[in-house]
Amino acid sequence: MIYQSYFLLLFLHILGVSADWQFRSRPDLAPPKLNITIPATSEAAPGYIFCAPFSGYADNRNHGPRQAAPYIFTQDGELVWSGFSLFSIWATNFQAGKINGENVLFSFEGSHNPFYGHGHGHITILNDKYETVKELRAGKHKISDKHEFNIIDQKTGLIQIYQPVPTDLTSYGGSKDQQWIVDAIFQEIDLDTGKVLFEWSSLDHASPKDSVVPLTPDQAGSGYNSSDAWDYFHINSVDKDEEGNYLLSARDMASLYKIDGKTGEILWKLGGIPGKTSTNFTENEEFKFGFQHHARFLATSPDGNKQIISFYDNSAHGSEDKDGRVLKINDHSSGKIVEVDTKNWTAKLLQNYEPPYDLLSKSQGSTQVLENGNVLVNWGSEGAVTEYTHDGEPIFHAFFDSGSLGDNVENYRAFKYQWHGFPTEDVALFSETTIDNETIMYVSWNGDTETKKWNFYRVGDSGKRTILGEIERSGFETSFKVPSIVEDPIIAEAVDASGNVISISSAVTSVEQVLPLNTKIEKKSSKDFLDYFSWKAAQTFFSGI
Ligand SMILES: *[C@@H]1O[C@H](CO)[C@@H](O)[C@H](O)[C@H]1NC(C)=O
Ligand SMILES: *[C@@H]1O[C@H](CO)[C@@H](O)[C@H](O)[C@H]1NC(C)=O
Ligand SMILES: *[C@@H]1O[C@H](CO)[C@@H](O)[C@H](O)[C@H]1NC(C)=O
Ligand SMILES: *[C@@H]1O[C@H](CO)[C@@H](O)[C@H](O)[C@H]1NC(C)=O
Ligand SMILES: *[C@@H]1O[C@H](CO)[C@@H](O)[C@H](O)[C@H]1NC(C)=O
Repeated sequence: MIYQSYFLLLFLHILGVSADWQFRSRPDLAPPKLNITIPATSEAAPGYIFCAPFSGYADNRNHGPRQAAPYIFTQDGELVWSGFSLFSIWATNFQAGKINGENVLFSFEGSHNPFYGHGHGHITILNDKYETVKELRAGKHKISDKHEFNIIDQKTGLIQIYQPVPTDLTSYGGSKDQQWIVDAIFQEIDLDTGKVLFEWSSLDHASPKDSVVPLTPDQAGSGYNSSDAWDYFHINSVDKDEEGNYLLSARDMASLYKIDGKTGEILWKLGGIPGKTSTNFTENEEFKFGFQHHARFLATSPDGNKQIISFYDNSAHGSEDKDGRVLKINDHSSGKIVEVDTKNWTAKLLQNYEPPYDLLSKSQGSTQVLENGNVLVNWGSEGAVTEYTHDGEPIFHAFFDSGSLGDNVENYRAFKYQWHGFPTEDVALFSETTIDNETIMYVSWNGDTETKKWNFYRVGDSGKRTILGEIERSGFETSFKVPSIVEDPIIAEAVDASGNVISISSAVTSVEQVLPLNTKIEKKSSKDFLDYFSWKAAQTFFSGI
């Protein structure tokens, strides 16, 4: 038994999985440790934080987070759910939502091309038991990109596509060799049938001459081949209002667009950079934005003349203009709430959520208006999240990992939702005896939000259970100690707020405590380890067990 934990750790180490033994009951999990610099005040909205942090370094073996994946955390930074074993590749845009009355989780899952800012894959939809119920892809032989999945009225999904196409770019400053451009496409899909209900293509409606990211051998591509296509428009969010029209954020136009839901015509364009982007609105002097993300309709006036929208203003791009100047608009990024008036054609900044640190994110980001009017701003490439009261007071702030692992952690979008999770996986129980003749039990249940109390029993030879004690749930993992050696197998029972037993662990036998928590294990050479392992494997195989 002692060897078992020892070799498990060593084995994980060799695989590069880097478990860190934060949890005795789940030595396979090593979630990020949020660095909470403004602890949530009583004004914080109820709910959990949904995020999917990943390393901004190309070599992510030695950088945090150790296990990049979708996560649910409490606002105290306590783990609720790790999606690391479920999402095998790269996941982003992790959210909770509702489809046909059912609570679901969804996330993009696929490959990631950070230099060109796109990915290809599918949307994975989970039920509230954390079971995959659907994988959703774009229709009409097109590949889904990572940026958007937005459920509309519980029935349809907005999905976005990054489609390189060959075209003549000479009128936009390209040479004869530069022939590839990215058509930014979105589709609205029926979630039951997968049928494409609407499709919109940027090249049909918006000229590349209006792009604020020129044809350069940089992030947005120089057009020499399809993998280097010029990403002149770059849709990173799509929303739909009650009238059935769409709101697009086009990062490389530094503009928001409203699109007619029937004809696809551009109803208006709100340009972010005065003098550089065309616009249908008169904006006041201080109001400028660009390279933004995550635009959402919030409300429409009863006469239909005004709309309020929210978005994340990066104000930085990470590329340069034709003269080699870094594309930057404001000194730092912010969450913005804007009112557009389509009678008088004015746009006005209602709120600007300024970062508590000097954060300027060259990529990614989100701004979510919460049910109680608070606002959650996620700082994209800066790997941080802040909750504000509606009038702009920061009441919670966290970086997505801690210590050296916190360096260059990125997180595309973050959300806060109320959520109830009912995992089908088994309760995990680990028990050890100490040199002081105590028994310590550790119990956890990945994704569970309902357990309030744990009961522990020892199970005698006859199968008779004797209660060892009970304890309030204290976090992802709860530990419980009895002042004696328990030799019988032990089980743990999860009890919810109404006193119902909602799950029972398998019986485990206590092992002798080998190491105090977080003790560094001296690494044996991998050769010894592999010799041992191949011996064990051969023995098991040939003895026919
Ligand atoms: C595409 O063009 C880029 C920029 O010129 C170049 O670095 C890359 O190697 C090319 N890729 C292919 C597959 O030709
Ligand atoms: C918006 O501006 C474009 C470009 O100037 C113009 O063609 C279009 O008519 C304007 N739309 C409205 C509704 O004014
Ligand atoms: C448009 O502007 C006029 C004059 O400034 C003002 O009286 C009117 O209320 C405005 N309309 C709207 C819809 O705000
Ligand atoms: C948390 O973040 C603050 C601000 O960046 C930093 O000074 C501090 O060292 C971080 N703490 C940890 C444990 O990472
Ligand atoms: C633990 O129990 C053993 C066996 O009963 C006894 O010999 C030992 O002294 C105990 N250790 C402590 C620290 O109480």
